[in-house]
Amino acid sequence: LKSKYLTLIADAGDENSLEDLRVQALGKKGEISLQMRELGKMTPEERKTAGPALNALKDEINSALVAKKSGLQDAALDERLRSEWLDVTLPSRNRPAGTIHPISQVTDEVTAIFADMGFAVAEGPQIESDWYNFDALNIPGHHPARAEMDTFYTHRAEGDNRPPHVLRTHTSPVQIRSLEANGAPIRIICPGRVYRADYDQTHTPMFNQVEGLAIDKDISMANLKWVLEEFVKAFFEVDDVELRFRASHFPFTEPSAEVDIRCSWEGGTLKVGEGDDWLEILGSGMVHPKVLTAAGVDPSVYQGFAFGVGIDRIAMLKYGIPDLRAFFDSDLRWLRHYGFRS
Ligand code: PHE
Repeated sequence: LKSKYLTLIADAGDENSLEDLRVQALGKKGEISLQMRELGKMTPEERKTAGPALNALKDEINSALVAKKSGLQDAALDERLRSEWLDVTLPSRNRPAGTIHPISQVTDEVTAIFADMGFAVAEGPQIESDWYNFDALNIPGHHPARAEMDTFYTHRAEGDNRPPHVLRTHTSPVQIRSLEANGAPIRIICPGRVYRADYDQTHTPMFNQVEGLAIDKDISMANLKWVLEEFVKAFFEVDDVELRFRASHFPFTEPSAEVDIRCSWEGGTLKVGEGDDWLEILGSGMVHPKVLTAAGVDPSVYQGFAFGVGIDRIAMLKYGIPDLRAFFDSDLRWLRHYGFRS
């Protein structure tokens, strides 16, 4: 019996046949189990020798099974190691690499230029309260600017008479939030998305602005002019660029100016710094005392300037992109053409 099983175990080719053998020998109705049962019918004398012998046989077969099992597992592992190898020196498969979207690229460029002039980056929510987007910026409820801005309003539940929240129509609410949080003096820019219900070649319902705000005890419009000129020169990488400050009106600045940049559209490509065209790139002015007061800053001590630049506009100008809408079409061919390799 012993040599029969030891041979069978030694010859077993896989774990399944090994398990069959175990059942055949040691299972409930196995050959050895049946013999164990016979012990009961023996005389005590017979049992004394047959009992230990059977137990020893059982142990021996058991350990043969265990040893063979781990031997089979080792062999299986060896086989896998032999067959499943990986050549880490092979060149990798090509994955299409993404590009940086021109808006992200331009936002980074703008941020870096203003960082050099000591401006930190601040952010605010895109869903804004009526107070931050309008009232605190000296745009009261009846003011025509609210209608002019083609505001997207969120919906209030029936019976809820609070004014609705809005998708911020400009980055100017971040002026208020930053002054509230940090007080004056302050020097920040706030890049981000803004929303207006408007759509044509130069307007999309979502676009990007960067707000600038500098408040201190001795700031004048001359500082504003210098900062903007330095910015435009650095951004367009030119020694000289012509800016046109046009008197304008914003409820939150006094005086106010819109700034245009000299450019041309020769042969469909946009050129900055030459030609007879002017492209408006930003609104600006000296922060209105009422705005400072609303933000908790004393206008008899502090004053300063603010501006809002259209990021998409200056991206179009710098990279010669004729249609603003393409920025948000997610057309991969367009992105490959204008996108930036990281
Ligand atoms: N918030 C204005 C706009 O969106 C731009 C602006 C910002 C003007 C700051 C003056 C000062 O048109």
